[in-house]
Amino acid sequence: MAKREHWGSKFGFVLAASGSAIGLGNIWKFPYIAGENGGAAFIFVYLICIAIVGLPVMIAEILMGRTTQRNPVGAFRKLSGSKFWTAIGGLGILAGFIILSFYAVIAGWSTGYMIEALRGTFSTLGTAEQASSHFNSLVGDPTWMIGFYTIFFVFTMAVVYLGVKDGIEKGSKIMMPILFVILIILMIKGISLKGSGEGLVFLWKPDWSKINGQSVLIALGHAFFTLSLGMGALMTYGSYLNKKTNIPTAALQIVFLDTLIAIMAGVAIFTAVFATGQDPAGGPGLIFNTLTVVFGSMTGGYIFGVLFFVLLTVAALTSAISLLEVVVAYFVDEKGWSRHRAVLVLGLLVFIFGIPSALSFNLLAEVTYNDMTFFDIVDFIASNVLLPFGGLLISIFVAWIWGFDKALIKLKDGAENIFRDRPLLISTFKVFLKYIAPVMIFIVFLNSISLLESAIEQVKNYWIILVLVIVILGIILSRNRMKK
Ligand code: TRP
Repeated sequence: MAKREHWGSKFGFVLAASGSAIGLGNIWKFPYIAGENGGAAFIFVYLICIAIVGLPVMIAEILMGRTTQRNPVGAFRKLSGSKFWTAIGGLGILAGFIILSFYAVIAGWSTGYMIEALRGTFSTLGTAEQASSHFNSLVGDPTWMIGFYTIFFVFTMAVVYLGVKDGIEKGSKIMMPILFVILIILMIKGISLKGSGEGLVFLWKPDWSKINGQSVLIALGHAFFTLSLGMGALMTYGSYLNKKTNIPTAALQIVFLDTLIAIMAGVAIFTAVFATGQDPAGGPGLIFNTLTVVFGSMTGGYIFGVLFFVLLTVAALTSAISLLEVVVAYFVDEKGWSRHRAVLVLGLLVFIFGIPSALSFNLLAEVTYNDMTFFDIVDFIASNVLLPFGGLLISIFVAWIWGFDKALIKLKDGAENIFRDRPLLISTFKVFLKYIAPVMIFIVFLNSISLLESAIEQVKNYWIILVLVIVILGIILSRNRMKK
């Protein structure tokens, strides 16, 4: 078997993993959910979720990858020897397959909008209504949609085809600085606009009345998605690390960069939206409908519009790469395929699987199940079922099955100085990983499959207590079984 590829440096790993984390979630989704859920108050809740759940789970994922030097299926198998847990790894591969298929559809919009920006279309869009009808006519055109979906997909496959160091790492080293510089330019432009102050107030003035059970769950669910957790993406990236890398500091850097970019995107977007008198509550259409009007009306909007959609596309590309890499790594490790073969075959399969998602906005728009298009269904299954379920099991696995103490010994490799003489840090981490993370993810999971949505108003705390009891019982039982 060929020698396993490795990152060229820790910095390269951090950039690639940040590239995975920073994506549509940060630039497209975060600003509008923060806008809808109380601005600074939501950001505050979100930061707590990131710290107490996101960071511990991220460390756990990277550690599993580095320790086993395997894809998620191989990692679970090597650490547990159990079929059940190996299958959980398999769910991660499946999630990567599915997420990539619809993620690339939205990324295709972004790619197409790069061209719209270059053609100067935005200056012809005077109102949000015009922008949204333009958007609908574009995504409603199967040729346009499939065309840009394909272009985006080819780029994703090309980078993964080149390998870990020469493709993913090198690509991230080129794309991430571009992303950062563009965002800084857009942020400065936004802040310098007359009337931008209102946008800053909107983002920074906490509206605590909007914080309730629902918004906390949105924050936690988003923390997961934006950090690429729950399906072994960072496990796979971690498997290309050597033992000397300091995992806790790397994870901190990734989390920091991801959060920084999301907040910068929020500032850039809301300052511009307010300065040009647009509606900040644009929801999912905020970028494609509201922002295009903003670019159409501001001075220099042409160039800033181009820059913005380059930014969004680059961010989506580095994330899509990580999704494809998970699937590819599985076929390389477990089936003994060459990387090139895995990229071509699996890339093509994911591409084909994504076609109905791309057509869900035009030809197949009327083909629905429970009012959901194919796109809605795969998005729902992956984001609301597979990811939280995967995240829950990863944290339970590391803390309870592999065992916190055993995992900690491995984690100390490369991070001796962080843990030496810091019993408090260790016990805090232990509590977060063993109890807080799994319980909180479990609640998100129940909510996602919409059990909790109605229950939360009616039964409130009793329900949560019941959930806690079930979780704890479940963990203890599965642990005892593993020991035998
Ligand atoms: N984190 C990316 C974003 O914010 C999306 C993403 C990439 C992802 N890889 C993932 C989400 C793995 C969950 C799991 O856009």
